[in-house]
Formats: sequence, structure tokens, C-alpha cells
Amino acid sequence: MMLFIGFVEACIVIAATQAALGHPHARHASDCIRSVLAEAADAYIAAQAAGNISLLEGVLAEDWAYEENNKREEPRKGVLSKALKIDHYRTNFDLIACATYTELIAADPANPYVIGTQIRHGRDSKVTLIDTVSSTTNSWLFDAKKTLEHVLQESWDPIPESKRDSRDVIKAAGDAYLDMWSNATAADAVPWGTPCARLEGSAYTGKGRPDDSCKAGIPSNHSQAPNTRRRYVIDESMGSVSIFCVWEHMMMAADSHEFRLEGGKLRYVHTMTVCGGQQCRL
Ligand SMILES: *[C@@H]1O[C@H](CO)[C@@H](O)[C@H](O)[C@H]1NC(C)=O
Ligand SMILES: *[C@@H]1O[C@H](CO)[C@@H](O)[C@H](O)[C@H]1NC(C)=O
Ligand SMILES: *[C@@H]1O[C@H](CO)[C@@H](O)[C@H](O)[C@H]1NC(C)=O
Repeated sequence: MMLFIGFVEACIVIAATQAALGHPHARHASDCIRSVLAEAADAYIAAQAAGNISLLEGVLAEDWAYEENNKREEPRKGVLSKALKIDHYRTNFDLIACATYTELIAADPANPYVIGTQIRHGRDSKVTLIDTVSSTTNSWLFDAKKTLEHVLQESWDPIPESKRDSRDVIKAAGDAYLDMWSNATAADAVPWGTPCARLEGSAYTGKGRPDDSCKAGIPSNHSQAPNTRRRYVIDESMGSVSIFCVWEHMMMAADSHEFRLEGGKLRYVHTMTVCGGQQCRL
């Protein structure tokens, strides 16, 4: 965990430096400052660790909303009010949409969770929405301990500025991937990379080999399952897009897909899929 705290701190330093130098990102989003987004994401992680919503008080807008597994929920009844032993987290920043995406893993066998959370900020920088996909026992291919092992082997270092893909390229890659379930030719538009590893729940396609591929088991049965209600958090410095949606072809599940591109090519895919408290089945 120390490693990730270090990374968040590094991001705050970068944000402060960018602001001081009048970096275009800082100018472009005057009410969308990385350190402000980081403060809220860190408060969210602390609140989730403690199971105490009060720790969010300073960052929330008065009329903030909480969504869990694609449904509006009373935060005091949701997973956010459950203390979790957090083993890993990583937060990505969208300085255009004023939003963050946090991936969080609690491998504790007594209380295992793998959670994705998008946090959206309003004009005054206060949090207007905490939107969570909270996978646990019965979720698709769920095993928090295995997920943690795989995640800790991956490298999500920031991408050097000169090598970053554009927001549009990153978003289009994620959309093409999600379109594969309803569109037989969408796979041609996915910028498949080699190596590429897909972490689907706890199942991992990566073997640590240079020819690792994410194409294994991609859909061949194209039905009317367009993966609707897509919500995006895009971080060019990470090459990443988080997309939450309704996963129609698997019990109308609540779904989180996160993609990372390196050099325009797909490098990592992480998924969490929650089937309304029931065992997920295809
Ligand atoms: C929740 O956090 C608040 C603010 O720090 C604190 O006053 C309160 O005692 C905490 N509640 C619990 C149940 O720990
Ligand atoms: C299917 O995907 C292809 C490739 O991205 C795209 O050109 C086409 O417009 C898509 N078709 C539909 C119906 O969305
Ligand atoms: C293909 O999709 C249709 C519609 O969703 C479904 O009824 C059918 O069982 C699927 N077939 C296979 C082989 O998965």
C-alpha cells in the first residue's frame, strides 16, 4: 500500500507544479484541479476503510447522490458504510470531466471486496456523485485475493507526456471493446496490443509472456446487448478509461470495465461485474 500512497502524493506534487507553471491542463479546468480531486478520492478511501461517511463531510456537495451497482442508494445502507481492510487502491484523474476513478481491493477473506468508484465533482469542486460498482462473493469470477495478486504484478506508471494517447483515442478503444457484444465488426476497431492482459473478475489472461493477448474468448454471439448507460472517467496520463455500464447479456449486471492503452494499443483490461446479489451466470 505504501507504493500507492507514494503515487497519490506524487500526483499532488505534479498537479501543484502544473498549476504553478500555468500548464494547459490547469488552465483548461480552472475549477477542476487535480489536488482537489485527489483530496476527495482520498477522503472516499478513508471513509470506505472506516465504514464512516462522516469522513467525507468536507468534500461533499449538499445534494450529493450515491449510486451502488447502478442503483441510487441510501449511503448509510451501502458498502460505503462497511469498514473494509483495504489492501490496494489506485486513483485515476479526469481533469476535463472533473472526475476520478478509484480501484480498491479488500482481500480479507472475512469481508472480501473489489470495488470501482467514479466520483464526480460539480462547479464548486464539491462531490455531486459517488458511483460505485461493488463486487463481492457471487460476482463474476470473484476472488479478491487472486485479483489482488494479479493487480500487484501490473505496472500502471504514468505515461511520459510525449507518449500519451489523446482522450478521443482512449475513449474510442474502450467503446469499441464494449461494442463487441452487439456489433460483429467492433472487434476490428479495438487496438489490440501485444502483450495485453485481461483481468476479468479474478481470471487473468496474462502469463507474463511477450505474446500475451486479450483476444481470448471475446464474444462471437452478437445479440442486442449494447452495454448501455456508459459513464466515463478518462485519464490521459494513465492511458486509461473507466467505463461503468449495464451489462445486459449477463443478468442486466452492473459492470465496470477499465482499459489502459500504451502507445495506442490495449495493454490492460480490468472488469468487475455484479448481478444484483445473485450468482452471476452467462
Ligand atoms: C466517524 O467519523 C467522525 C468524524 O471523524 C467521528 O466523529 C465519528 O466518531 C466516527 N464514527 C464512528 C462510528 O467511528
Ligand atoms: C460496428 O462497429 C464498426 C467498427 O467500429 C463501426 O464502423 C460500425 O459503425 C458499427 N455498427 C453499428 C451498427 O454501430
Ligand atoms: C446468443 O444470444 C442469444 C440472445 O441473447 C441467446 O438467446 C443465446 O442463448 C446465445 N447463444 C449462445 C450459444 O450463447
